[in-house]
Amino acid sequence: MSLVLDKRVTASSTDAITKIRQEFPLLQRTVHDGLPLAYLDNAATTPVPNIVQQRLISYYSSYTSNIHRGLHYLSVEATRQYEDTRKRVQMFINAAHQDEVIFTHGTTMSLNMLAQALSKQITNTDNTNTETEIILTTMEHHSNIVPWQLQKNLRIKYLPMLANGELDLDALPKLISNQTKLISIVHASNSIGTINPLTEIIRICKEHGLITVVDAAQSVGHMRVDVQALDCDYLVFSGHKIYAPTGIGVLYGKRERLKQLPVVSGGGGAIMQVNLDSTSFLPPPARFEAGTPNISGVLGLDSALQFLMKIDLPSLWQHEEYLLDYATTTLQNIKGVRIIGTATNKVSILSFVLDNIHPHDIGTLLDFEGIAVRASHHCTHPTMKHFKVPATVRASFAFFNTKEEIDLLAKAITKTIKALGR
Ligand code: ALA
Repeated sequence: MSLVLDKRVTASSTDAITKIRQEFPLLQRTVHDGLPLAYLDNAATTPVPNIVQQRLISYYSSYTSNIHRGLHYLSVEATRQYEDTRKRVQMFINAAHQDEVIFTHGTTMSLNMLAQALSKQITNTDNTNTETEIILTTMEHHSNIVPWQLQKNLRIKYLPMLANGELDLDALPKLISNQTKLISIVHASNSIGTINPLTEIIRICKEHGLITVVDAAQSVGHMRVDVQALDCDYLVFSGHKIYAPTGIGVLYGKRERLKQLPVVSGGGGAIMQVNLDSTSFLPPPARFEAGTPNISGVLGLDSALQFLMKIDLPSLWQHEEYLLDYATTTLQNIKGVRIIGTATNKVSILSFVLDNIHPHDIGTLLDFEGIAVRASHHCTHPTMKHFKVPATVRASFAFFNTKEEIDLLAKAITKTIKALGR
């Protein structure tokens, strides 16, 4: 499937978008007894295309089996396909080696594994009682805050945001001390869309010898993510934000880093030899994939990546930019709408509030019009606190969304203001 779009061309007027929408069964359904669905909740999870659904059916109907354990035909086939996916992920994020790709259940699990393992690695052991410090930002999803807070040996410092929702980069060098060992940072904010200038941030952190962890959950589906260009030590993301099934994710780590990373989750499939008093582990990535993995999820991820590699992603990402620009301008022109997060560089996420109407009420009324958005704190309490709001309404666009869906959103917002505005 080849798709080239002019940025100025409206989505629904192009055959290409119509064609791509046909690949997603979810987009064909109606809600509330016949209303067409406007799916604008892609930051929460993306629909899965036919090719992914077919892959799951194929695994469960033709070669259901466990991997890395069986000598029989089905298991050999499933193992081959599972390991082929590792290669596909390697290509997708431009990792140097395929053994740098570890499959997990998602971003949250990847970050929990890293927090547990890295906190062991970086904690001071010199009996000087100096605290080990790490840096997070106030823009993080809870999944990049709570796992680190659970490590009681760490002191967390936060890089703050500016009024528009960009990070205050001037504050970064001042936060780093001799005790600072690591930064874990989001690439693109899930609640306000800000894209952080990671190349520059990682360069500064490397100059001070920090380990760098990147949460790419909201970036990897909307822009080129190249781990070698970023030069990060670790990067994590989830399949379900890039058209794959839920429950599958990736933890990327540089080969030299993974060799040193402590194992925090043990079990079958990860070991070389188990004795009653000790265990030796397989090399990475196997040592980090204990237990039967989400095999069908991995294969679904493989098909999602095949799908993404077949379409003209740069064009489609341009289309997402167009949708964001169009939605921002359209909503800004509605009296009573306040956009939350106005960074210069954003992924296609638009958060807003309406004067005197709670976001949850707005979300419910939009749903009555067939529009699916998220109305919530988006698992980013500190970001909400920064903007002094309890929650926002978030419209998040994927490349299959259309200008007409944004017009529908604008119309429904105006109707909501008329109905509930005070
Ligand atoms: N992290 C997902 C979101 O932002 C669930 O909605």
